[in-house]
Amino acid sequence: MKVPEPQVTSAAPRMTRAAKGAPVPGQRWKLPEPKAARDATLRLVLERRRSTRDFTAEPVAVQQVSQLLWAAQGITAPGGLRTAPSAGAVHPIKSYLVVSRVDGLPPGFYSYDPEDRSLILLQEGDRQELLSKVCMDQQCVADSACALLLSAWYGRMRREFGGAAEKLVFLESGHIGQNWHLQAAALGLGSISIGKWDATAMKMLLPIPRDEEPIYLLLAGRR
Ligand SMILES: Cc1cc2nc3c(=O)[nH]c(=O)nc-3n(C[C@H](O)[C@H](O)[C@H](O)COP(=O)(O)O)c2cc1C
Repeated sequence: MKVPEPQVTSAAPRMTRAAKGAPVPGQRWKLPEPKAARDATLRLVLERRRSTRDFTAEPVAVQQVSQLLWAAQGITAPGGLRTAPSAGAVHPIKSYLVVSRVDGLPPGFYSYDPEDRSLILLQEGDRQELLSKVCMDQQCVADSACALLLSAWYGRMRREFGGAAEKLVFLESGHIGQNWHLQAAALGLGSISIGKWDATAMKMLLPIPRDEEPIYLLLAGRR
């Protein structure tokens, strides 16, 4: 079966006024609009999705990153409803992006704001080699162009769902992860889930709030 190549634009992210010049923590990058992929049917992307561990050194486009983040956690309806379902519509999962090789985005650790479709720089610098160490030296982590870290804030989940909170958070992470993978497949990118890592070391490496727990790591890159 001949798989059509997806169309990728090279639109640059729009920096806020403060983001011009050297990047500093707190700066915001407005991402380009996600585009509808007319050439990828659901059946095609389901067939095409495969875990990739061999990423090339080529960067991915910021348009592709915007598309991946939107697929994972984009807001698609009034009231903040998203591409992935969420128990009680609590949306307890926060998204962070580790950027290594993305055209138009400095390497660093960002949080994703799905309401504004923007990235906020939390820490500048390439974290991929150290991230690979946290993930038991998995080479694919060091080779990927970017990684989505999902972390959970349990506060409201525990109030609403008690002892079921953890299970519900894990289930929701799986939905988000599959959206990431299917979007990567639609864009012709490689992706993989990474579950083998040390949570304590992850929290020491990446500055997520103390009341959040890192749950799931999803890689993407060219293959
Ligand atoms: C929750 C989860 C965690 C995973 N963690 C890793 C991992 O740490 N390293 C890795 O190489 N693959 C990891 N994988 C990928 C699986 O090895 C892969 O999905 C499996 O081999 C089936 O291949 P496929 O995804 O191409 O169908 C993980 C998959 C899932 C769902």
